[in-house]
Formats: sequence, structure tokens, C-alpha cells
Amino acid sequence: MAEVLEVLDISKSLKLIKLRSLYLSKAKPGQFFVMQYQEKPERIPLFIMDSNQNENTITFLLQKSDDILNIEIFDNIKVGQRLYYVEGPAGKPFPLLENKNILFVSMNWGFAGIYNIAKYLKSKNNIDLAFIDTDSVNLEVLKPFTTIFNNVYEYSSIDTFGQNGKHYDVIVSAGSNELAKELVSIYEDKEVVCAVITRMLCTVGLCLACRIQYDGKMKLPCVEGPWLDASKIDFDDLNRRHLILKDVLVRSRKS
Ligand code: FES
Repeated sequence: MAEVLEVLDISKSLKLIKLRSLYLSKAKPGQFFVMQYQEKPERIPLFIMDSNQNENTITFLLQKSDDILNIEIFDNIKVGQRLYYVEGPAGKPFPLLENKNILFVSMNWGFAGIYNIAKYLKSKNNIDLAFIDTDSVNLEVLKPFTTIFNNVYEYSSIDTFGQNGKHYDVIVSAGSNELAKELVSIYEDKEVVCAVITRMLCTVGLCLACRIQYDGKMKLPCVEGPWLDASKIDFDDLNRRHLILKDVLVRSRKS
């Protein structure tokens, strides 16, 4: 069982958490894990922000949402607790890129996934960060992480985000499907890669809960993602499915 070693508040709805976990500390850049906080069989997929194989630890960001289970975890997670279950590392590692100008665009908790990849790609590429903060994040707390970027641009919402006049070869986003969809329309002629956000139960390709429509076919982000070409994702279908699953979950919790 993974033990919670540190919990740091970095906004009213975002916490930076360090866990001890031998298996998760072996994660490759871009992989994620699934957390089951207590015996109730609901799992939350989370980005691995950083890992340390010498200490057998990982860090991640937990964001409070309007989901009742998420609120329960957010309000109660404490140093010294042992989580009921964690599974991973899951998903495909991010591919190695070289000699590219890369713009990383993160929104709130998505910064965890972005940081993990940016750290990996930094030595062979130029990397900038566009940080969309809708949550009054204390960027001072994140400073040890944001200093790896050549330039950092801050925005208060997806609506205020715009091109900064620089040339980029690749755009990488995490934290919001809506953001990824918006980036596809802003950077029409560029490669836009995003970490798609879906419900996940098994993370091994069996339950089909995470399935999305991708380039006209079914894709399973738990084993074939989470980093995918955003221009091929059917976001309307994804949103529709997300609402249906949310409804099913609420009903099953009441029964
Ligand atoms: S989470 Fe079960 S198939 Fe992807």
C-alpha cells in the first residue's frame, strides 16, 4: 500500500502530494497511475509529476472537482495515510523528441503531466510553458518546477490564451479536454498532442470504460494513450460519454 509522505496546498483546490511506492517510482515519462482511495471500487487516473527511484517516491497533483468522491479524497488525504490501492505505471511513455520548439500548455492539475514530459525532453529541445491558472495557484510553490522552462507565459482562462508570436513545431497539452480542443483550432497547421481525460476502471484494456472515438475508430487511452493526437479525437462524443458515465456513477453510489 502506498503511503502519503507529504501534502502541500498550492491553491484552494489543488494539492501537491508525495507518495512512497516502489512500483510507481519506476514510471517512465508520460505514464500515469490510478488511485483507489478506499474500499469503494472507484478509481481516479492521475498524472505522475515526478519520480525518484532512489527514494521509491512519486509526486502528483490532486485537484478538487465537483465529484463527491473526489471532494472526499481532497478534504481527507493526510500525511501518514496508506492508500487502499494504487495501480501503475500505466499507459504508453511519451516518445522522445529532438530539436523541436515545443509549447507545453497546462491547465491547473495538468501541470503534473506536463512537467514530467518537459523534464524528459528539455535537454534535446527548446521548451516553453503556457500555464493556464483558473484556480489562483501559488506559482511560487511551483517555482522549483517551472524553472526548467525557457519561458513561462501565464493566462487566467482558456479564453484569454492566445498565440505568443513564436514558432513552435509541437504543442503538448494536459489538464482539460476543452483546452485540447481549443488548441487544435488555434494551431491548425501544427501537431497538437494531448493527454486525453476519460473515466478509467481497469487500465489494462478490458473494461472499455475509457474508450474514445479516434480517427473514426475506437481507441483505449489506458493502453494506447494517454498522449494522443488531439486533432483525431472526437471531443463531442467524448463529452457525451463522460456525462453518461457520470450519471451512471451517481446512480450506482445511491443504490
Ligand atoms: S480503463 Fe478499462 S479499457 Fe481502459
